[in-house]
Amino acid sequence: MFRSVLRFQQPTRAFVRGLATSAEKTSRIKSFQIYRWNPDTPEVAPTMQKYDIDLNDCGPMVLDAILKIKNEQDSTLTFRRSCREGICGSCAMNIGGRNTLACLCRIDTDTSKDLKIYPLPHMFVVRDLVPDLTHFYKQYKSIQPYLQRDTPPTDGRENLQSIEDRAKLDGLYECILCACCSTSCPSYWWNQQQYLGPAVLMQAYRWLIDSRDEASKIRREMLQNSMSLYRCHTIMNCSRTCPKGLNPGKAIAEIKKQLAFD
Ligand code: SF4
Ligand code: SF4
Ligand code: FES
Repeated sequence: MFRSVLRFQQPTRAFVRGLATSAEKTSRIKSFQIYRWNPDTPEVAPTMQKYDIDLNDCGPMVLDAILKIKNEQDSTLTFRRSCREGICGSCAMNIGGRNTLACLCRIDTDTSKDLKIYPLPHMFVVRDLVPDLTHFYKQYKSIQPYLQRDTPPTDGRENLQSIEDRAKLDGLYECILCACCSTSCPSYWWNQQQYLGPAVLMQAYRWLIDSRDEASKIRREMLQNSMSLYRCHTIMNCSRTCPKGLNPGKAIAEIKKQLAFD
């Protein structure tokens, strides 16, 4: 009985070492400046709000930081997120001057610099970091992003495709429609009512080159005008910013090549 009481009172070496380490750890305070705008008070101009976070107590990604701010400091901070692994595309925002996904973007650990976060540029804002993507999705719908065929499936059940034809879709089908590329494109900023922008055009190309699709003539005709496609001036901001490493600028160039022979 006496021995067991003694054992209980004596802290283990690991416990003592742990205490010493946390005492030695100095906090690493990083400031985040985040765009705020509330549609309920439209007369109040948008502002940048500052939040401080100890990076020792936060995950490594920007999404970790803004979730921490929302959970612990300011529940009114509004943003979209779902998968936290670069699959859903909903956490797209402008971080440190670049359009990217908050869940794939590491926090710059240099605490002497504030990190500025804005919603995707040149879009209407629903609230804080949430852009209005209604027009973007309408444009996506306009390219008819689904398989179109008049003839029945090749083997009676499925529309088969050779391995080589399937490989042509690589680098295109992975797009998660986050809109980082379109909202980094100067042509899209100025002409987005008529110009489809890189994300939607890359999907137009994805269906144009699908060997199973039989609507390519109509698809090309839809793009054969001065605005939908030809507002692209090959500035390539789109390919530089894509957080999935895709190349919408190249896809647009390929569509232009196809249309040149019509
Ligand atoms: S091409 Fe890249 S940046 Fe553009 S929508 Fe697709 S995943 Fe996002
Ligand atoms: S390459 Fe075309 S689509 Fe991409 S940013 Fe430049 S103008 Fe926009
Ligand atoms: S949360 Fe889904 S892509 Fe970032």
